[in-house]
Amino acid sequence: MNPDRHLDALLVAARAVRERAHAPYSRFKVGAALLDEQGRLHVGCNVENAAYPQGLCAEGGALAALVAAGGARIAAVVVVGEGDRLCTPCGGCRQKLREFAGDETPVLVADMQRVRARFTLGELLPHSFGPEHLE
Ligand code: THU
Repeated sequence: MNPDRHLDALLVAARAVRERAHAPYSRFKVGAALLDEQGRLHVGCNVENAAYPQGLCAEGGALAALVAAGGARIAAVVVVGEGDRLCTPCGGCRQKLREFAGDETPVLVADMQRVRARFTLGELLPHSFGPEHLE
């Protein structure tokens, strides 16, 4: 699986799903796209709730879609958000992604115009705890 071959498709998908975000409280729309080990894309957007803590992040939605479709591994992550600062995944989402990804998995942060940063999951979540700790 070469994530770079899928980068444009991931960006298009994450930008499109971001438009469907339900973010009436923060007004901060986020879209996420995941590439699975079979080369398939899965998307999610943030879904906020009037009971604020019940809101869902875009990455969590995309992850649920990947698992529901039978995906087993995350080969690449794209997160799209606007603003002065990079829309990097929150701490909880980094851990959720870690369940299905490794230190070398690329995590690209983009806005509606361009890719703004490229990390690995290991950079965003160093010394992480994962499934292999429980083997
Ligand atoms: N949010 C995401 O969906 N993903 C991120 O990576 C950062 C934050 C959402 C949660 C909330 O709906 C809004 O952005 C503001 O925090």
